[in-house]
Amino acid sequence: ESAVDDAIEAFRAGEPVLIHDDADREGETDIVYPATAVDTDAVARLRNDAGGLICVALSDAVGDAFDLPFLQEALDHPATSEHDLAYDERSSFSLTVNHRETFTGITDADRALTIAELGAAAAAADAGEYGVDDFAAEFRSPGHVHLLRAAPDLLSDRAGHTELGIALADAADCAPAVVVCEMLDDETGGARSPTDAAAYADRHGLVYIEGAKLEARLG
Ligand code: 5RP
Ligand code: CA
Ligand code: ZN
Ligand code: ZN
Repeated sequence: ESAVDDAIEAFRAGEPVLIHDDADREGETDIVYPATAVDTDAVARLRNDAGGLICVALSDAVGDAFDLPFLQEALDHPATSEHDLAYDERSSFSLTVNHRETFTGITDADRALTIAELGAAAAAADAGEYGVDDFAAEFRSPGHVHLLRAAPDLLSDRAGHTELGIALADAADCAPAVVVCEMLDDETGGARSPTDAAAYADRHGLVYIEGAKLEARLG
C-alpha cells in the first residue's frame, strides 16, 4: 500500500496527516485534519506540537457558497496592493472567524467548536443546503480562526497546503474543510525539518507524506 493510500485511510478515520509541501516552495510540514474530526485535543496538538498558524482551508465551491473574499482583494489598504510572496503567486487567506457560540474564540474549546462547525457547514454547503446567510448567522468575523480559500482547480492551479489538504479531503470523501498548522522547530524557531516531522509522525503512529506524492496521484 502506498503512502497516498495510508493518508487517505487516515483522513477517512478522522486522523491527522503530516504534509510537507516541497523544498522549493515553503519547505514546511503542516499537521492537517479533516475539520469535522477536530476536538479540543486536536487543537491542543496543533498549538503544542505544530505551533504555527491554525487555519481552515475550504474548497472554492464552499468559498462561493459562503461568499468568501480573498483578504488581499477585500481590503482597501496600501499594504495589500503588492502580493510579493517569495514562494507562490498569491496567498489563500480569506476572513478570520469565530463561531457565534464562542466567548473569546481562542481557547481550545472555542477553536474546536469553530473548526468542527466549519466542517459541518462545508458539508451542508457542498450538498447545496447552506448559503451566505446561514454562514453569517453562525459565524462572526473577525475571529481567531483564519480561513483559506483553495484554488478552483486545486493542484493544477496551486500546490499549497490549502489545495493539498482539500485534494486529500476529496479523495477520502471528507467534507471540503481541513485544518492546517505549520510544524515549527522549538530549537531553531524555523520550519521543522522533513526528517524531524517524519520522526514525529512515527512516534505518534501518524502518516507523513510529501506533497509531490499527493500531486502525482490526485493532481
Ligand atoms: C497559513 C500558511 C500555511 O503555509 C498554510 O499551509 C496555507 O498556505 P499554503 O496553501 O500557501 O501552503 O501560510 O498559515
Ligand atoms: Ca511546542
Ligand atoms: Zn503552507
Ligand atoms: Zn506557511
